[in-house]
Amino acid sequence: MQDIIQQLEEKRAKARLGGGQHRIDSQHGKGKLTARERISLLLDEGSFEEWDMFVEHRCVEFGMAEETVTGDGVVTGHGTINGKLVFVFSQDFTVFGGSLSEYHAKKICKIMDKAMQVGAPVIGLNDSGGARIQEGIDSLAGYADVFQRNVMASGVIPQISVIMGPCAGGAVYSPAMTDFIFMVRDSSYMFVTGPDVVKTVTNETVTAEELGGAGTHTSKSSVADNAYDNDVEVLNEVRRLVDFLPSSNREKSPVRDSFDDTERKEQSLTTLVPANPNKPYDMMELVEKLVDEGDFFEIQPNFAKNIITGFGRMEGQTVGIVANQPMVLAGCLDIDSSKKAARFVRFCDCFNIPIVTLVDVPGFLPGTSQEYGGIIKHGAKLLYAYAEATVPKVTVITRKAYGGAYDVMASKHLRGDVNYAWPSAEIAVMGSKGAVEIIFRSELGDPEKIQKRTDEYQKRFANPFIAGHRGFIDDVIKPDNTRNRIIQSLRMLKNKKLENPWKKHGNIPL
Ligand code: HXC
Repeated sequence: MQDIIQQLEEKRAKARLGGGQHRIDSQHGKGKLTARERISLLLDEGSFEEWDMFVEHRCVEFGMAEETVTGDGVVTGHGTINGKLVFVFSQDFTVFGGSLSEYHAKKICKIMDKAMQVGAPVIGLNDSGGARIQEGIDSLAGYADVFQRNVMASGVIPQISVIMGPCAGGAVYSPAMTDFIFMVRDSSYMFVTGPDVVKTVTNETVTAEELGGAGTHTSKSSVADNAYDNDVEVLNEVRRLVDFLPSSNREKSPVRDSFDDTERKEQSLTTLVPANPNKPYDMMELVEKLVDEGDFFEIQPNFAKNIITGFGRMEGQTVGIVANQPMVLAGCLDIDSSKKAARFVRFCDCFNIPIVTLVDVPGFLPGTSQEYGGIIKHGAKLLYAYAEATVPKVTVITRKAYGGAYDVMASKHLRGDVNYAWPSAEIAVMGSKGAVEIIFRSELGDPEKIQKRTDEYQKRFANPFIAGHRGFIDDVIKPDNTRNRIIQSLRMLKNKKLENPWKKHGNIPL
């Protein structure tokens, strides 16, 4: 027995070395941690239970029969994050560049299947050269098996991808189907085809960083949700995010102890909205003053900054926050912000997370670039997402809520549960200047008359009370008491039940 145990230990030690010490040194030399080091930082100390450590590939092409590496380039298993069960796979770049083989894929599929059965998130730490070239079609089949599971798991368990090295070819499509993607600055890349292929096919000269670095994907393509400076920071932030999320769609939004006073009044909010309706203010100040302990996990902070999305807690319960940001494009809805917020709203709805919407929106952004880019279809995504969402929806209009954008932003008409307005709210079909120029076109030659009409319109419609008369607003609340009012509403909505009619699935305008 002692001999066998000795052999086991030797096998384990060999597996732990992955592609060998010199490749581990090279990984460290690039400022990257190894697959196992990453897992130990991600999970609670000592909680990792590894599976399939002894798996090997069965490829015999290109001399591969002699080149087996125990574990086959991916470390898989389960553990906990602050006590919460999660499944994890971590690709080992020291083994054939983390490339995905038939058996590498089988290991990933095994943990995904179990995560689905028990209802726990899957976190993928990606560092891979794509399909294992020596394996050909077996590798492609492996990718497709993972893709299929990504789709089946979508909306059932949270899936989080961390990109921690080059991710080329098939390696980008599995992350693309997960809920969140985080990258590491200067050491992670995502592209379908790398710079060399780009040069050959399109004759463009582009660096890996420009083509698929963290800057590109967090601010231009919006493929990634955020980027961090190094492996340690990104893994810490994933731990923080997991704390906000339920383990599956079978659970309610998580609640954890909060020491923040639910009745905390924020006097400074009384003067947040400037007297001049054309002056911007920072909506993030409101977000941070509303949530428990000011703790806000922002999603996509560097893309479509005219809308803020992210997670916070109210009375300990996770909420998703969507807020127009008047500091950027006056808070208008455009293609990018509609897509960003729609995806976020749908994530919250999948996972029973109540949505708090803070509205200051002058409308949809006009212009040919928006129309040619399909703002009609993309704006409809956000409308669709809010309309289909059955989770508790609490809305606060701080200032402008004009036109179609008023309807879209979790209005009463889209089954908003509680809709509040601040006294500074202006709920109307459009701003007074635009309105007067249309309905009093014949008087445009007389600036004095037009000014009088504008003042009249402003006085008549630029307030929350017309909407209040119709019951489209449930109450006009004082800014300093907003946190308390939202918490009261969320308490009331705790056992909300609302079901959409049965369907195979809807047809959101993609
Ligand atoms: C097998 C691979 C590999 C792969 C890298 N390696 N990619 N082995 N299959 N796909 C091996 C290398 O041979 C090398 O082995 C080791 O991993 C490290 O690779 P390097 O090139 O030395 O590292 P680096 O310079 O950091 O470059 C990393 C890289 C580059 C950018 C990922 O290796 C690369 O471009 N690889 C190929 C990417 C690719 O075209 N993949 C196939 C995509 S097709 P040694 O023994 O020297 O350490 C695809 C189809 C799926 O994925 C589609 C599904 C929809």
